[in-house]
Amino acid sequence: MAKVKSAYFCQHCGYEAPKWLGKCPSCNEWNTFVEEVIEKNIPSVVAFSTSSNRPTKPQPIHTIEEQATRRAQLRDGELNRVLGGGLVPGSLILFGGEPGIGKSTLMLQLAITENQLRVLYVSGEESEHQIKMRGERIGLSSEQCFILTETNIQHIFTQAEQVQPELLVIDSIQTLYSSQIESSPGSISQVRECTAQLLRYAKQTGVPVFLIGHITKEGSLAGPKVLEHMVDTVLQFEGDRNHVYRLLRSVKNRFGSTNELGIYEMQGNGLRQVENPSEILITNTDQQLSGIAIAATMEGMRPMLIEVQALVSTAAYGTPQRSSTGFDSKRLNMLLAVMEKRCGFKLGAKDVFLNIAGGIKVDDPAIDLAVVAAVLSSNTDLPIDPKMALCAEIGLSGEVRPVNRVEQRISEAEKLGFTSLIISKYSKGVDPKNYKINLIQCGRIDEVVRALFS
Ligand code: TYD
Ligand code: MG
Repeated sequence: MAKVKSAYFCQHCGYEAPKWLGKCPSCNEWNTFVEEVIEKNIPSVVAFSTSSNRPTKPQPIHTIEEQATRRAQLRDGELNRVLGGGLVPGSLILFGGEPGIGKSTLMLQLAITENQLRVLYVSGEESEHQIKMRGERIGLSSEQCFILTETNIQHIFTQAEQVQPELLVIDSIQTLYSSQIESSPGSISQVRECTAQLLRYAKQTGVPVFLIGHITKEGSLAGPKVLEHMVDTVLQFEGDRNHVYRLLRSVKNRFGSTNELGIYEMQGNGLRQVENPSEILITNTDQQLSGIAIAATMEGMRPMLIEVQALVSTAAYGTPQRSSTGFDSKRLNMLLAVMEKRCGFKLGAKDVFLNIAGGIKVDDPAIDLAVVAAVLSSNTDLPIDPKMALCAEIGLSGEVRPVNRVEQRISEAEKLGFTSLIISKYSKGVDPKNYKINLIQCGRIDEVVRALFS
């Protein structure tokens, strides 16, 4: 009988210890160790072992031949953009997100729309019929898309040899298991071993592999965190499940920048690419409403105009409430303090609620000025001109600070038909004569107030 070997793994970060520990020395989490059986004696059958045991020699870098990596251009433009300009052959991509956000939908959509590629879609979560139903809902079909419901990684490789796919999708990494290891699917050692085998498969065959991975809010599920260093690219799918917009971000990318952002809209028949995000994020009402300001922000390299909504009301209880959705609440408190101290607005006894429309989260500091403007507008009940946008950071002394890529923001506002834009007067290299839009340059918050309400 093969000798059974076991070890303890932290389910949070994957730290391995020979005995049980109460606190993980690596990530300092408590009570995360679980015993997992690792049986290494069974020889691998179909698994992709390292191609040869021939030791490699160091080579001078100038002698290494350059390989023009042909990136495959996907039909999905958003995905191309986030991947850094197309799919790199042999890359291993982890696609993470909370359950129910739409990971399987996006991957199946990819599998059936790329009809120039032979795709093997492996699911350990749904039956063929369920996948077919989902595919019908999306409303496309491809002769080149193969569905396999299987969780044993060795069997997956056997099938992959037959199908010879040009793209492999695994839904999800937490359901796979390797018979070489005895612990249950989803445990750290299984997830790590299966990923290592898929990595070898991708590198040897040049087939790009997408791995779907679930992440819970607490990070309690074994996996994705541990995998981040093994894979080439980590994509994250995020959004509010109650809203229709989903953001695709790259958290790590060996073949491109991590600044890119893809936007999708979840519809009854799958995910639709959103090419012009600004148009959908701004509500077009006929009436002028107070408490609304439009910010010219950047998400990565993509300029985007979004709506900031504020509600200021007299506090019903002794301690005023401050709540914000989509914007850092500490930053909101700081901005309120600046307005109180530097500009003399009495907000200390007011409840302040802030919301970024569309259920998206913004951490671009250029939205500060729009937050301030929305709060002031709601406080005074005076609407802001709906054709006016704002972009600037606010400093602790109430100064209006310049932001990066201001030209791009100006052009986007101009393109969307805004007639004026408030920016910092310290913005470098901006010549108002070059733009049709009226650029209002302010140095302090009180100048902004005059520009807004006069
Ligand atoms: P799913 O891809 O199953 O999520 P994940 O794999 O990330 O767990 O998506 C689940 C949600 O998407 C589900 O609540 C319903 C919704 N949905 C649509 O709104 N339209 C569609 O066409 C599809 C297929 C799903
Ligand atoms: Mg799923």
